[in-house]
Amino acid sequence: MKIKMVNNYQEMSNDAADLIEDQLKKKKASILGLATGGTPEGLYEELVRRYHLGRIDFQEVQTFNLDEYIGLPQDHPQSYAFYMWSRFFSQVNIDPARIHLPFSTTAGDAEAATAYDKQLKQAGGIDLQLLGIGENGHIGFNEPSSFLWADTHYAELSRETMEANARFFAWREDVPQQAITMGMAPILQARHIVLMASGKEKAHAVKEMLCSPISPWHPASFLQLHSKVEVVLDAEAAAELPPHVFAYK
Ligand code: GLP
Repeated sequence: MKIKMVNNYQEMSNDAADLIEDQLKKKKASILGLATGGTPEGLYEELVRRYHLGRIDFQEVQTFNLDEYIGLPQDHPQSYAFYMWSRFFSQVNIDPARIHLPFSTTAGDAEAATAYDKQLKQAGGIDLQLLGIGENGHIGFNEPSSFLWADTHYAELSRETMEANARFFAWREDVPQQAITMGMAPILQARHIVLMASGKEKAHAVKEMLCSPISPWHPASFLQLHSKVEVVLDAEAAAELPPHVFAYK
């Protein structure tokens, strides 16, 4: 696990963009696992900029997004589908047939979850998985709990997650209470993981992820078991870390 601290949000976004650019140089037809939320907004902007400069080509790339709210249509401005199309997919040369977004209108619909896992498997798994982290240590919408799910599943969002995500909605009551999310298995099976965190609100979750015993009560702590994780942090998100973690290999 490599931990890197940078000065600010822009540097974090540029660093993550470098890692994606390198990945696509090595393998044009890479399978990217993509994340949403406030954290990767700058990264997508940077990737679009590099695409326009002719540095990155997305033509052969396949993407799998981590998660989606249940109860929002895909054209809702706060849906993750809308987020991805408006910020990224519509601005680069990705083939729409290679874009995979989890979607379901009801939490009980096992078919949508199974179909998503099947697509992931058929694609051969993820080459590079991009992650953010929730203030409570969630990744995707794998929320802290006494157990974690391996496969794509429906998640009841925790109070903390709904509160953190309320900033994107006009009213607190508008925040969906459920989501469909990739499970822990494809995330941990990704050949390379890049996790970004920015801001002091994430400092505690970042410390727990890297320095606490692995526990389903802190889903991101399972990344300790993965041999190729790069964590890119701004100074505020890294504030609670002991110095020795920066020497992790
Ligand atoms: C959201 C998403 C995650 C994201 C995390 C942090 O709820 N489900 O995929 O990484 O929480 O979000 P943000 O980057 O907005 O802080």
